[in-house]
Amino acid sequence: MFQPVKIAPSILSADFMDLQRDIDMVAQAGAGMIHVDVMDGHFVPNLTMGVPLVKQLAKATTVPLDVHLMIDNPLDQIPWFLDAGARSITVHAETLDEAGMRRAIALCEEAGVAIGAAVKPKTPVEVLEPYMGELDLVLVMSVEPGFSGQSYIVGSEQKVASAVALARAAAASPIVQVDGGIGVETAVLVAAQGADSLVCGNAVFAAEDPAAALAAIESAANGARRSVLTKVQSEEEVA
Ligand code: DX5
Ligand code: ZN
Repeated sequence: MFQPVKIAPSILSADFMDLQRDIDMVAQAGAGMIHVDVMDGHFVPNLTMGVPLVKQLAKATTVPLDVHLMIDNPLDQIPWFLDAGARSITVHAETLDEAGMRRAIALCEEAGVAIGAAVKPKTPVEVLEPYMGELDLVLVMSVEPGFSGQSYIVGSEQKVASAVALARAAAASPIVQVDGGIGVETAVLVAAQGADSLVCGNAVFAAEDPAAALAAIESAANGARRSVLTKVQSEEEVA
């Protein structure tokens, strides 16, 4: 069955003085999740938002909150974000050793919250191989984490393909998410390689009509996904 791509608008690019309006707007436009970028000024240069905001967001919307932790000490803060109402929590592979990653997985699993692992552009996605069977989400960063509005790093779609191949080899089916510089054109590139979820900051919130921008990205990505699926099916029929 065809599973459409989900768009996860990143509120880092929203209007913080009018957050409720922006959230309601993307919720109505069909956002699959709301992506919350947590930065600590250490793991990445920027400092953004944290637990109190997630707590308030959870009261303000029914769209699942997808928390992306770009912090040095994710294990200390995961319990707080679970408490605050996160529906998925993504940690960076660069911040945890194997025992730490297993702990992060266990904490989320116990709480019934999805666990994701992210890789920065220079980290091979293969570092996630030992956890493939336990991850609900694999996040391929297509910009250096830290800021919204950067340009997509060309070739990131190859990493999406590698993530899909790793998952398949492990008979696992995590959501493959891409984050950074995603707009209509780059959405097509990554969706064609099997991306399931696209984080969009500037391409949605800086658009004149965010709902229309979201719909355009979603439809372009689903078009690419459908045509790849049709191609694979017809190759299987021939074989
Ligand atoms: C970057 C963040 C992204 C960012 C995406 O470190 O993880 O989620 O908000 O913004 P755009 O889509 O503008 O690149
Ligand atoms: Zn993010």
